[in-house]
Amino acid sequence: MSRQNLIEDPQYTPEKVAARAKYPIITAKDAAKNNTMPVAVKMLVREFIDDSLYHPHYGYFSKQAVIFSPETDFDFERIRDNMQFLDIIAEKYKEIEDDMDVRDEIARQVWHTPTELFKPWYGYAIAKYIVTEYKLNNYPHKDLIIYEMGAGNGTLMLNILDYIQQFEPSVYERTRYRIIEISKKLAQRQGERQEVRDVTKRHGCVEVINKSIFEWDTPVPDHCFFLGMEVLDNFSHDLIRYDSVTEEPLQGMVAIDEDGDYTEIYTPVQDPLIQRYLTIRKQSGYKSPVLSRRFLRRLRNRLPFAPNMTAPEFIPTKLLLLLETLKNYFPQHRLVLSDFYTLPEAIPGVDAPVVQTRYSGTMVPCSTYMVMPGMFDIFFPTNFELLRDIYQQVCRPSLGMEKSVKVQTQKQFLERYGDLEKTRTLSGENPMLMYYENNKMFLS
Ligand SMILES: C[S@@+](CC[C@H](N)C(=O)[O-])C[C@H]1O[C@@H](n2cnc3c(N)ncnc32)[C@H](O)[C@@H]1O
Repeated sequence: MSRQNLIEDPQYTPEKVAARAKYPIITAKDAAKNNTMPVAVKMLVREFIDDSLYHPHYGYFSKQAVIFSPETDFDFERIRDNMQFLDIIAEKYKEIEDDMDVRDEIARQVWHTPTELFKPWYGYAIAKYIVTEYKLNNYPHKDLIIYEMGAGNGTLMLNILDYIQQFEPSVYERTRYRIIEISKKLAQRQGERQEVRDVTKRHGCVEVINKSIFEWDTPVPDHCFFLGMEVLDNFSHDLIRYDSVTEEPLQGMVAIDEDGDYTEIYTPVQDPLIQRYLTIRKQSGYKSPVLSRRFLRRLRNRLPFAPNMTAPEFIPTKLLLLLETLKNYFPQHRLVLSDFYTLPEAIPGVDAPVVQTRYSGTMVPCSTYMVMPGMFDIFFPTNFELLRDIYQQVCRPSLGMEKSVKVQTQKQFLERYGDLEKTRTLSGENPMLMYYENNKMFLS
């Protein structure tokens, strides 16, 4: 039996509620079998978001994805200061958007990432970290094996391999690099780029596997580094609320009516992945912020028309699937992740995403994720401290609170491993340290 939040459903009629109760529950995989958007169905929120982002026909990422990549590396030592660096980026960005052939399709889908803006220095810093750790623990007995999930243009791979080749030739001889990339276009591009082809030809150590990490089914018993830079943020989340009185968690679903209208509905948690996530999270001692102020909530519940559920909370259920994949198929991995830990202009809710699209050169943020699938980017912040606790339980259960799992800001990481001379402008400002202040690194 589904419940409605009284304040959330302006289209409420008893007939509509009865009709929705009969809609079948489908997944994003079911929706992918048709080219048209599903109607008269219900989907868990993570399935609805997965469908919006990854549907093979209309999904946001299935369209031509472009990651901003300056043709030449920035020569920071010749740039006056941070302001001039900003101007140069804005100019280059505009060049892509002004390309008439691609304006409609691509303009709203151009991303920029630290890997690209600070190439090759960002990749060199990651390489320095990997090689330092590899030499400490595995050299010379084992090969250096690197897996990178979601490699975009393949720039990080190029920079990491360049660094190892240049500075650690004996390690380079024994390096293997495998990319796991969901996007066909990007996987193709990684294989087609001249520089990538050169690297592949030179050493044959690069392999591009066009697959979602969630479909991975090959055991990798080797010691390996597993990288994911700016990938977590697009992992779909589920949505839960709690019953205001009993505090029972309720799973969110999107009901899509016959005419394509969306309504959020809630039922007691039945989905096994949500159940698993909530059980593991409880063991970590995490307390949801939406369940604080119990006294005030009780008081409010006595008011007429008081909402019967708490505020919404987004939970990273696909991230749990990633950790389970690592545990089952990459038991000897060392994990290196970088992503946002906080985002401006997110929609309401705990750990809520930003939903936005680019229109005429401007980013337009929305107030809900229930928008036309495929037209909007939906990306989430990651609670890295909670991730660390959950990672410990899933991937390192026997080690207890292990010191070797680290969470730090990207700036702290780059101060330690980055080349701060080469990324400093004439004024002394260092854009590599100044940008992406809302990014953290996870290192295991
Ligand atoms: C924002 S881009 C980041 C690209 C690159 N890592 C960088 O920092 O420049 C996210 C990348 O992850 C890929 N991706 C998203 N979900 C994935 C999944 N489930 N499995 C593998 N790759 C995925 C996307 O196609 C894209 O290449």
